Amino acid sequence: MRMVQANAEAGAGAAILRSKVFVDGQHPADLSKDLKGADLHVHTYYSEDVLPSPSNDPIRLYEEARRRGLQFVSFTDHATMDAYDRVGWEREGLVPGVELSILDRRNVGHTIHVNVYLLDRGQFRALQELASRKRDLETFLAFLSSERLPHTYNHPFWFERGEKPNFTAVLEVAKLFPVLEYNRGRTRSLNRLALALAGHYGKGIVACSDSHTGRTLGSVRTYAQGETFQEYFENVRAGRSWILAQDMTIRGLVEEVNEWIGQFFARSPSRAGSDPVPAGLGPKSFGWLLGLRGRGGLIGDNLVWRLFKRLLYALPNSAVIQSLYVRSQETLALRVLKQLPVLLAPYSVVQTGLSAL
Ligand SMILES: [Fe+2]
Repeated sequence: MRMVQANAEAGAGAAILRSKVFVDGQHPADLSKDLKGADLHVHTYYSEDVLPSPSNDPIRLYEEARRRGLQFVSFTDHATMDAYDRVGWEREGLVPGVELSILDRRNVGHTIHVNVYLLDRGQFRALQELASRKRDLETFLAFLSSERLPHTYNHPFWFERGEKPNFTAVLEVAKLFPVLEYNRGRTRSLNRLALALAGHYGKGIVACSDSHTGRTLGSVRTYAQGETFQEYFENVRAGRSWILAQDMTIRGLVEEVNEWIGQFFARSPSRAGSDPVPAGLGPKSFGWLLGLRGRGGLIGDNLVWRLFKRLLYALPNSAVIQSLYVRSQETLALRVLKQLPVLLAPYSVVQTGLSAL
């Protein structure tokens, strides 16, 4: 097994990653039984970029998370907590959570994503108000601190399409968070940068799937001790944790798109009266397509529909788009490093381990 075992004795100002990192999704055989494994970033069909398929039902995802041996799981849909009204707010190992976007133009310049845990409806509404109206990161984070809500800086080197990224601001933002995220949906070089960032500022790190189809749920996870989620998160924050990490690859992207297409054709949410998928969910830009799917006449053995289906499956398997995307992410990582050479320093500190990554 390849492993990064960073020095836990970080001195003042030392740039050292305190958590231990296992790569390529291999479980450490000698992992203590006291450690709890968690995937704290999972989307359900209440997210606008998830298909309204029964596979993405929070009830089904919760059961799947338990089956895959996760002790903690959090459904962090984009700006909604409706999943908890469906699955229940108090289920064993289920951590109420949400993923919020905030665009603080003055202090950051680009949109960032923040996961917040253990919040109730009232706190969610207050945060949503701060994120969407006030748009001041400092006030937003002050609220999280005053309410003692665990939170993470998600995928620090992800940038919204159409926005100009401010790489330097990422350093400043990272300083303000207790824990940064290693994201299964990012390439290895971008995730290395997240590790370097965590190491540079002595932050905790969580590995999350950011699953949008359920396929990768629990394929990466964070291990730490803790009877309660608060205790667990405190251990993660302090670096008393391990992450089981994997990255996005061209092959993984092909599989993900195939899963997505499979879910699209699997079942119409509006055909069967007993279908539990609520109406009106799903990506808005695909609304017309989802509408077609719901019209029985176009689904059956219609030749046009079958040709369309075949074409859709052919596209991802050529892997052209996925290759271009991965290449664009590698270019992004190089740009970041060029502008933030400080992130090279932690690599040298933990070079032995990271060279195996
Ligand atoms: Fe996100």
